[in-house]
Amino acid sequence: MTGIIRFYETGGPDVLRWESTEVGEPGRDEVRLRHTAVGLNFIDVYERSGLYQVPLPATPGKEAAGVVEAVGARVKHLQVGDRVAYSSGQSGSYAQARVMAADRLVKIPDNIDDNTAAAAMLKGLTAQALLRQVYKVRKSDALLVHAAAGGVGSILVQWARHLGATVIAVVGSAAKADVARELGAQHVLLSDDDWVAQAKAITGGRGVTVAYDSVGKDTFMGSLDALRPRGMMVSYGNASGPPPAISPLELSKRGSLFLTRPTLFHYISTRPALARAAQELFDLIGRGVIKVQIGQTYPLSDASRAHADLEARRTTGSTVLIP
Ligand SMILES: NC(=O)c1ccc[n+]([C@@H]2O[C@H](COP(=O)([O-])OP(=O)(O)OC[C@H]3O[C@@H](n4cnc5c(N)ncnc54)[C@H](OP(=O)(O)O)[C@@H]3O)[C@@H](O)[C@H]2O)c1
Repeated sequence: MTGIIRFYETGGPDVLRWESTEVGEPGRDEVRLRHTAVGLNFIDVYERSGLYQVPLPATPGKEAAGVVEAVGARVKHLQVGDRVAYSSGQSGSYAQARVMAADRLVKIPDNIDDNTAAAAMLKGLTAQALLRQVYKVRKSDALLVHAAAGGVGSILVQWARHLGATVIAVVGSAAKADVARELGAQHVLLSDDDWVAQAKAITGGRGVTVAYDSVGKDTFMGSLDALRPRGMMVSYGNASGPPPAISPLELSKRGSLFLTRPTLFHYISTRPALARAAQELFDLIGRGVIKVQIGQTYPLSDASRAHADLEARRTTGSTVLIP
């Protein structure tokens, strides 16, 4: 038997229940994993709350690290005992063990521990997609990064600095401002202040090249206002609620802006794309260029408390659930 989190109805953190279940044998293209560390992500909250619809009952979770326990007949790249991690569109990582598609798994290099891998797979691959694929960041770029002390944000800031860009971070508290500065952001603004005017002033009145906005409802229009003509609005999350529906005219009147709404899984949908992005991420973590910030851990059975803290903006960096 294995412990697993399930929810039978959408709602607040208390809909998450700790139960036990049997884990079956893997199919031909699958493996069975014993999880050692599970990553918490805001998308888990969207699915639990009903903002993103999933069939019920459901087990949340799209990120974890673990050890391979059994291998399907057609799986060639993995064997029993391998340490692996994943970021998968298929939920179900809030469990002590699971069966899953083998082609979503990557081996964890020896110099990276399991907690780090679980904290960085989905969030780090998101940073890779945002900085290297959605828009190819250059040294001359000024970037606005919301929730800069958060899970994705803390990796995004360090990676953007490594690429030579100017990072203007926006955070929700003075304590998080200290975190963003330590991560390397050259400018740190508070979300309660007039961060649009401040970002404009920092860029000599022009505006930023790219706005990475994961907050959504509360910041979306401000992020558009902070962009320079032909700037790129990357709306990649809804932590405060979904962004407003806007007319394309809002983009033209602010200077022919670009708008994209990327989802990680469209950028790592093939095995080569996943392997390339993961290698780039692991290389930067292995060389110490990116230091994955694990701000807090919780027992997996206490996932509801972790959700409550994430939603209340009480967490910094990544959160890891221990099975
Ligand atoms: N598109 C994709 O493929 C993709 C992939 C991964 C993640 N994401 C998105 O990236 C964002 C970050 O994810 P994460 O897991 O790393 O979470 P996180 O950034 O660690 O946590 C969310 C942060 O958002 C900020 N926030 C601002 N207003 C908020 C509000 N009303 N309620 C809650 N939080 C608020 C808070 O930081 P402050 O207190 O500093 O404001 C909070 O700590 C999420 O929006 C997520 O959906 C998107």
